[in-house]
Amino acid sequence: MEFVHQWLFYFGVLAFFFTLVYSATDPNDLKILNDFKKGLDNPELLKWPENGGDPCGPPSWPHVFCSGDRVTQIQVQNLGLKGRLPQTFNQLTKLYNLGLQKNHFTGKLPTFSGLSELEFAYLDNNEFDTIPADFFDGLSSVRVLALDYNPFNKTTGWSIPTELANSVQLTNLSLVNCNVVGPLPDFLGKLPSLVALKLSYNRLSGEIPASFGESLMQILWLNDQDGDGMTGNIDVVANMVSLTQLWLHGNRFTEKIPENIGNLTSLKDLNLNRNQLVGLIPGTLANMELDNLVLNNNQLMGPIPNFKAGNVSYDSNSFCQSKPGVACAPEVNALLDFLSGMNYPVNLASQWSGNEPCTGPWIGLSCTANSQIYVINLPRHNLSGTLSPSVAKLESLIDIGWGETVYMVLSLKISPN
Ligand SMILES: *[C@@H]1O[C@H](CO)[C@@H](O)[C@H](O)[C@H]1NC(C)=O
Ligand SMILES: *[C@@H]1O[C@H](CO)[C@@H](O)[C@H](O)[C@H]1NC(C)=O
Ligand SMILES: *[C@@H]1O[C@H](CO)[C@@H](O)[C@H](O)[C@H]1NC(C)=O
Ligand SMILES: *[C@@H]1O[C@H](CO)[C@@H](O)[C@H](O)[C@H]1NC(C)=O
Ligand SMILES: *[C@@H]1O[C@H](CO)[C@@H](O)[C@H](O)[C@H]1NC(C)=O
Repeated sequence: MEFVHQWLFYFGVLAFFFTLVYSATDPNDLKILNDFKKGLDNPELLKWPENGGDPCGPPSWPHVFCSGDRVTQIQVQNLGLKGRLPQTFNQLTKLYNLGLQKNHFTGKLPTFSGLSELEFAYLDNNEFDTIPADFFDGLSSVRVLALDYNPFNKTTGWSIPTELANSVQLTNLSLVNCNVVGPLPDFLGKLPSLVALKLSYNRLSGEIPASFGESLMQILWLNDQDGDGMTGNIDVVANMVSLTQLWLHGNRFTEKIPENIGNLTSLKDLNLNRNQLVGLIPGTLANMELDNLVLNNNQLMGPIPNFKAGNVSYDSNSFCQSKPGVACAPEVNALLDFLSGMNYPVNLASQWSGNEPCTGPWIGLSCTANSQIYVINLPRHNLSGTLSPSVAKLESLIDIGWGETVYMVLSLKISPN
């Protein structure tokens, strides 16, 4: 009995020293690290030993971390490295944390297909010009993916492959300014762990998918899309109840700001600058205690409310007044109701601004000498909708003309009441 214990003890000690001293790095991992070094124009910055040796050490090479004989991390951020990565990179199958960001890596990004233990991948701020279509396959543990500021597939652009839908642990996906084109994939709204989705400065188009309404993400950046930009209404965002920061500026979103945006009780920062949003500012939005609210450069109408937000800007819209809290003239309110019934056609919303319909740039109105509106004449404006009863409040109005080709009087006589 005693003997057996002693024997086990010596065996243990021996095994310990064996791993300590002779824990040669896995030969294939070593080869990939050497290829990594060979692909660089300035490998000396790594300060890796001249005559090869054992990256997993001890002592291990700078910037390399191992578990046993397998490489688990390479951390070379911001070293000024220039060069290409070996295309066999995904054979580092025990890799779980990779920091290559802020260097000058060029050429084709190797596939990461099958790196099933990879949790963190920072590849942002490099000069990779190609991302392979199978890059995201089998990244089943990935939590953070940052690929921002790389000129991937510049001429054609690229879209986010659906295989990424299997990365159910993904919390942060950051693809700012890297040539993502086309519609925003529906599956991104369904990724169960996603907290931050940053897609600014790409070439996205189309609408925000309905699936986003169920997402619990906190940060959504879709701002400043090149080309036509994203379109459609922004109704779905009012269901994204965990949002703290929502940046939609620099697109072509249309229609009204949804009334129920006030449901976003965690929201602190809302930027809707440079879109084509119409209608009145909902009272629910005015009452939100945001740190930052940017509404500039839309076609918002009506009065400017008294905002509760800390820092608000709303220049270049079609408001009736220039100061918050001042109501519109009654005839302006009646005309705004009329526009509301027509869903605020953009061409009118941009021109019916200010509080004096009979003087300013209000197309389609005829007024009497004492500034009473008597005809609304809007031929070829493709108007459709319902005629608001409040036009009856325009006491002197006798006709509303609209139609496809020419002035078409509806013979709508509205008697003063
Ligand atoms: C990027 O371009 C390369 C080469 O044209 C192509 O093979 C690859 O599929 C593209 N990447 C994506 C994600 O579409
Ligand atoms: C992921 O995003 C959240 C929300 O912006 C942020 O607090 C966190 O630091 C990010 N995590 C990483 C690892 O970048
Ligand atoms: C959102 O707000 C609207 C009113 O603005 C309210 O009727 C609705 O119940 C709210 N929804 C949720 C889920 O809180
Ligand atoms: C307020 O908003 C303006 C315009 O978006 C911005 O430039 C400024 O930095 C903001 N100020 C603060 C204190 O957040
Ligand atoms: C009306 O619709 C037609 C066809 O959709 C379009 O060509 C025209 O520009 C529109 N006119 C206005 C004033 O919006």
